[in-house]
Amino acid sequence: MELIDTLQREHILIENVVGSLRTWASAAAAGSAPVTDGKRFMTFFRVYAGSFHHEREESVLFPALVRDAGLPAERGPIAVILDDHRRMAAILDDIETILARNASGEGDVALLAELAKRYSHELWGHIDAENSVLLPESEERLRQNGIRELPCREPDERERDAMRGGQDLVAAYPPMEPDSVRGDGCMMCPAYGPRCGGVEREWWNENEWDEFADHIGAS
Ligand SMILES: [Fe+2]
Ligand SMILES: [Fe+2]
Repeated sequence: MELIDTLQREHILIENVVGSLRTWASAAAAGSAPVTDGKRFMTFFRVYAGSFHHEREESVLFPALVRDAGLPAERGPIAVILDDHRRMAAILDDIETILARNASGEGDVALLAELAKRYSHELWGHIDAENSVLLPESEERLRQNGIRELPCREPDERERDAMRGGQDLVAAYPPMEPDSVRGDGCMMCPAYGPRCGGVEREWWNENEWDEFADHIGAS
């Protein structure tokens, strides 16, 4: 499905830019990069990762999962991903508050580095959950319900500018390697357990019984 493939491709740039954010934040804390470049990162995350990327997950993919595949919005993977988006936006709010006062003091740059670290860990974990579970499972559930394509719009001019801005930042600040524990599958997702019972339990439906019976029949 074009939308799912495109969202996964967009994750590559978003992951790289968050690695650059960490490189920039460390350099800014050490006094070797302009703190004002933080605003360039905020434009990328607000416009490209937020208004373009998250927005299509929230307004195209998730409603289709609820409407066409009968999946719950108020609990399980969709609720977790929506909550992640809100929590990550709140971290950007905090970063922007500091940048808005033309941060330069030691306390400010240390706090920026801490917030950048928190944001990167949230976003890396979020992308792992989407790439390894949410997106492939979404495609399968939609296929089971006869949906093979969903609307997939191109970025508008502002979003395209934000994308180019992100590419420039990756060139200027080589992305640091992730320093959080990463991995595929529900077991690696921070939401597994307290906030989500895992995709197999949360999205269990009649098709699973059919496929389960097929497996038994085939063995
Ligand atoms: Fe997302
Ligand atoms: Fe995503």
